[in-house]
Amino acid sequence: MEIKTLTLQGSAGQSDILIGRGLLSEAAARCLSVFSPSRVHIVSDSIVAPLYLEQLKGQFQLPVTATVLPAGEEHKRLSAVETIYHDLLAAGMTRKDLVIALGGGVVGDITGFAASSFLRGVPLCQIPTTLLAQVDSSVGGKTGVDLPEGKNLVGAFYQPRLVLIDPNVLSTLPPETYADGMAEVIKYGCIANRALLDQIGHDDIENIVYECVKIKRDVVQQDEHDTGLRMILNFGHTIGHACEKLENYVGLTHGQAVAVGMVAAMRLSNALGAPEDLSGPLADILQANGLPTVLTHDREAVFNALLSDKKKFGSTVNFILVRDLGKAEIVPVEAERLHELLLKI
Ligand SMILES: NC(=O)c1ccc[n+]([C@@H]2O[C@H](COP(=O)([O-])OP(=O)(O)OC[C@H]3O[C@@H](n4cnc5c(N)ncnc54)[C@H](O)[C@@H]3O)[C@@H](O)[C@H]2O)c1
Ligand SMILES: [Zn+2]
Repeated sequence: MEIKTLTLQGSAGQSDILIGRGLLSEAAARCLSVFSPSRVHIVSDSIVAPLYLEQLKGQFQLPVTATVLPAGEEHKRLSAVETIYHDLLAAGMTRKDLVIALGGGVVGDITGFAASSFLRGVPLCQIPTTLLAQVDSSVGGKTGVDLPEGKNLVGAFYQPRLVLIDPNVLSTLPPETYADGMAEVIKYGCIANRALLDQIGHDDIENIVYECVKIKRDVVQQDEHDTGLRMILNFGHTIGHACEKLENYVGLTHGQAVAVGMVAAMRLSNALGAPEDLSGPLADILQANGLPTVLTHDREAVFNALLSDKKKFGSTVNFILVRDLGKAEIVPVEAERLHELLLKI
């Protein structure tokens, strides 16, 4: 089995990220080469657990317990974290033992937060099972849950010591969920590696995941706590989040909203100095990957939703522009100017 490895040097230690087909089948051995637990607790969800939990559990010759959360973003809340704490205590987990997150970004975020806070921090391994979680959420140490007031409002930075990425598990993903992850893949191409955009649809997904994780690792390593550069990962997300909010998070998936947001951001980039309008070629790639490209929402409503987002600072919005494919810039744009431009694009 060919395994690619990347390491992220975080402020609190190193995170090893392994990528390879079939890695799930040797996950326990990989964990035991890094951790020395007396017991293991796995957190998964009601869709992923029937598919992969037994396969993982059966590899350990140690006591293994599990929490299976109901699947879905609506369960990414504090009560899920509390459920995990109770299960960890019931299992007799100590600070030497290992917590594994087996699932998509929702399971990863909840479990990461539980691991960061249980006994003030227990060792964590992420085994991401969606494309989005493999290229984005499992790497970089952001963990947390939603509150009724908004998404991701409570959380912590907590790097997993180990991330095991097995692209084989993507074979069971519903096409829409796979497409959501492709939106983030395309995002990486736009902001940091234009060659990646040519790779999509031609190269093995394993190589594509590797290129994406490498970009995320590099960005996080330079700005672990999200005070500057890490913002470029939000390309397409400012308008995307506004659309998601307008749809009450049910009409559009995150990837679909980001896709529409990226095309709009590309048009804005052109209006703000990009020599070429790259929105056409971007829309073609998105469409070929089952993603929407047209911003259908009322522009006034988008503008208002965007301004209420946490990323605004006074009267300027830090906007991520791509004026040259493969390079992102953080550009403060006056709210009034943005308003004007949004009505034109
Ligand atoms: N921490 C970060 O840096 C970060 C970054 C981006 C997104 N996120 C968070 O990630 C979450 C979204 O993650 P997601 O898109 O993975 O959603 P998800 O975890 O809800 O997974 C999507 C669906 O796919 C199912 N699933 C997962 N793996 C599967 C598999 N291999 N086969 C079949 N079904 C499978 C899940 O049960 C779920 O129903 C959001 O809560 C978002 O806030 C976090
Ligand atoms: Zn995203």
